[in-house]
Amino acid sequence: MSKFTKAAVIGHPVKHSKSPMIHQYWIEKYGFEGSYEAIDIAPETLDDGIKKLVDDGYKGFNVTIPHKESLMAICDEISHNANVIGAVNTVTIEDGKLHGQNTDGFGFIHNILQNTGNFEFKGKRAAILGAGGATRAIASALIGEEIEQIVLLNRTKERAEKLAEDIAFVSDIIVVEDWEKRSAVLEGIDLLVNATSLGMDGQHPLEIDLGALPETALVNDIVYSPLQTQLLKDAQARDLHTVTGIGMLLHQARPAFKSWFGLLPDVTDELTTMVSA
Ligand SMILES: NC(=O)c1ccc[n+]([C@@H]2O[C@H](COP(=O)([O-])OP(=O)(O)OC[C@H]3O[C@@H](n4cnc5c(N)ncnc54)[C@H](OP(=O)(O)O)[C@@H]3O)[C@@H](O)[C@H]2O)c1
Repeated sequence: MSKFTKAAVIGHPVKHSKSPMIHQYWIEKYGFEGSYEAIDIAPETLDDGIKKLVDDGYKGFNVTIPHKESLMAICDEISHNANVIGAVNTVTIEDGKLHGQNTDGFGFIHNILQNTGNFEFKGKRAAILGAGGATRAIASALIGEEIEQIVLLNRTKERAEKLAEDIAFVSDIIVVEDWEKRSAVLEGIDLLVNATSLGMDGQHPLEIDLGALPETALVNDIVYSPLQTQLLKDAQARDLHTVTGIGMLLHQARPAFKSWFGLLPDVTDELTTMVSA
């Protein structure tokens, strides 16, 4: 039996994906015989595209925009995490069956752990800006880490309410359009996370007064392009500890690699520098 392992990322478009760089780095570093490529599959050919991957003996694939939600209906089995989030970002193929999971929450937690060394989530209060797919992953991962409270702030109230209902934990919902209230709610918050697309290259910056955050607070922006967002610069100007978003991207890839190659790889400084460039 061939030991060569084939994996891929599927999306449309998919050229922009940094996943091939990450997985190819690990394949080489750990000396596996395998490949990881970016495969463009348009939504109207998704079923056929996936069937071809199964027929061609792929061990699995990552899923990016716009297929993450569609895979929920296509997979034969969905992990608890992916069910809560409503999106699949990693698929493993076993005996022709598709097993879907979502590793974004793992990526979020391990990015913070690696970059702080000792951040203790248990018993802490977190505020998350946003109520999209990324917030779902982060909120459910924080619950898994026994966070004490999550305050959710989002522009669209209904979306935040739906998220709160689905994960049945969020203690407070603040609507972002009320700017003053948004700043005031940061009092007593231990961890502030931006999970909106604000601050991304080509988007408006995230403007928020961080004055009410305790001086021990940690600020994390999951936007990684640019690496140093305005939010992180504002936090650094207040001498707050900050963590960038690139590590979440790198850490979320680790469980996927393990599912296919059998080894949980490390996020090294070399890989971080390479992918950040
Ligand atoms: N580092 C990583 O590994 C990683 C992983 C996943 C995602 N991300 C990044 O995280 C961000 C969110 O991803 P997602 O998948 O959750 O996206 P999404 O499902 O499209 O959600 C986008 C969120 O941003 C908010 N938003 C967008 N434009 C806004 C504006 N002008 N003012 C206020 N709020 C605005 C939306 O609010 P409404 O509900 O009001 O529309 C929503 O809460 C993206 O930048 C993505 O690249 C990073």
